[in-house]
Amino acid sequence: METEKNGQFDWKVRVFDTLSFPTLILRPDKTILSVNRNFVKKYGMAKEQVIGKACHDFFYHTKNHCPRGGCPLPTVLQSGEGQTILSHVETKSGEEKWEDRVFSPILDDEGQVRYIIESIRDVTRIKTMEKELTELRGFLEKAIQGSTSAIMAADMKGNILVMNRTAEEITGYTLKEAREKITARELHPPGQAEEIMKKLRDSEIGGKGRLPCTRVNILNSRGESIPVELSAAIIYEGAEELATMGIFNDLREKLAHEERMRQVMARVAQAEKMASLGQLAAGVAHEINNPLTGILLYASLVLEGMEEGDPRKDDLRLVIEDANRCKEIVRNLLAYSRQTLPDKEVLELNDLVEQSLRLIRDQRLFMRVEVVKELSEREMLIHADKNQLSQVIINLIINAIDSMERSGTLRLRTYPSEDGHEACLEITDTGCGISEENLLRIFDPFFTTKEPGKGTGLGLSTAYGIVKDNEGIIKVKETGENGTTFLVTLPLYHNASEIKPF
Ligand SMILES: Nc1ncnc2c1ncn2[C@@H]1O[C@H](COP(=O)(O)OP(=O)(O)OP(=O)(O)O)[C@@H](O)[C@H]1O
Ligand SMILES: [Mg+2]
Repeated sequence: METEKNGQFDWKVRVFDTLSFPTLILRPDKTILSVNRNFVKKYGMAKEQVIGKACHDFFYHTKNHCPRGGCPLPTVLQSGEGQTILSHVETKSGEEKWEDRVFSPILDDEGQVRYIIESIRDVTRIKTMEKELTELRGFLEKAIQGSTSAIMAADMKGNILVMNRTAEEITGYTLKEAREKITARELHPPGQAEEIMKKLRDSEIGGKGRLPCTRVNILNSRGESIPVELSAAIIYEGAEELATMGIFNDLREKLAHEERMRQVMARVAQAEKMASLGQLAAGVAHEINNPLTGILLYASLVLEGMEEGDPRKDDLRLVIEDANRCKEIVRNLLAYSRQTLPDKEVLELNDLVEQSLRLIRDQRLFMRVEVVKELSEREMLIHADKNQLSQVIINLIINAIDSMERSGTLRLRTYPSEDGHEACLEITDTGCGISEENLLRIFDPFFTTKEPGKGTGLGLSTAYGIVKDNEGIIKVKETGENGTTFLVTLPLYHNASEIKPF
């Protein structure tokens, strides 16, 4: 096109040339009618080399149509409306480029498309940024999702925005459910979310908008309270609070481990204490035993030699009675220190329970106690010292009866453990229960709540030692105002090769 026509300035041609994008005008048959200056500059060709060529011939050197398909011209011609396509091109130097091609029709008075203006915009920079952004987003998404810590973010109203897989596992909600059903506040016990926000805004704690590791609780979808360690931050834009973000870790396993460790340590301490007290008790018992035997012998002789009606006879009987009580204590002390080697044999637990019960059954102490036996039908063999174990069972039964002040129900239950490795014996009473404070001390030697002269406080500590010697466990399974259940578990004996030498 010429800028001067019949000596006149043709502003349309000027406008066309001034367009900042490379632009060409096409006829409906796809031949190029004209190109502007920027087009010439971009492709480095004279106008004459371009004009008259079909566009697909110029751009792709093909005879009929674009090799890639998707030519928008048919649609533009048919609809009379503009179209935009995004095309990916490779330059001669092998550089990748993205172009937006905008096709705008020029209509005649009848509304027919006479020409099409095609302008080519290089959008490589935007596309590259878009790609980088998508990659960065993908990377961040993967990092957040893959984290073994739970990650969550919420807006300032508490609407949940982000929740990774670990957070979904801990809370029991999927991100979709959390968005629909709850706010961040409801993920904590009442009042806790407000407390966290208060700490977050306190510049004294971790700096404004930051909360270092803190123990809090998360309420999951089942209403369970889960202890977690939380660190949180407020995301600001300028001075405005935009969102809150929290990273937290489930503490259940860690706390369970700590509790197991605490129990093991307590058991070790108990065992140590019992070992040293056992030695002391054995020494004292032996020392006292001999003089006591002497006291009893001579007191009995003196009693025998006294005249009928001698007023001192009653006093002497009291001496003998008290000396006998001392002997009983000494006997218990010796049992506690277990100075004799256990005589282990293969026993049937149900038989042993029956026999032990029979030994004390006739005593008056059973008068108003109902005994319920729920003994396992399965035979349960154990390898233990019969007398020692019988002593454990009798101790537990007498304790149970004492706790009921002689009236109530005594339940004796035996069963194999679920994994089939242990024989279990439960002794349940409907007695007074054991207070939390006493629970820590009942296995201590000489701990008793019974009146002086009634209990030595050696029953349970002796039982503890005997059960432990037999690789078993004795513990309070349950206690409360409705009574107490003691549980004894001992390894089930399967065959002779399992007997360990002692
Ligand atoms: N079944 C039970 N119900 C309530 N308290 C119990 C029960 N068993 C034991 N206790 C508490 O534990 C304490 C210690 O029991 P342990 O058998 O060691 O000693 P004791 O019964 O007091 O005396 P001993 O057994 O030497 O005659 C008891 O005094 C009692 O307070
Ligand atoms: Mg007792």
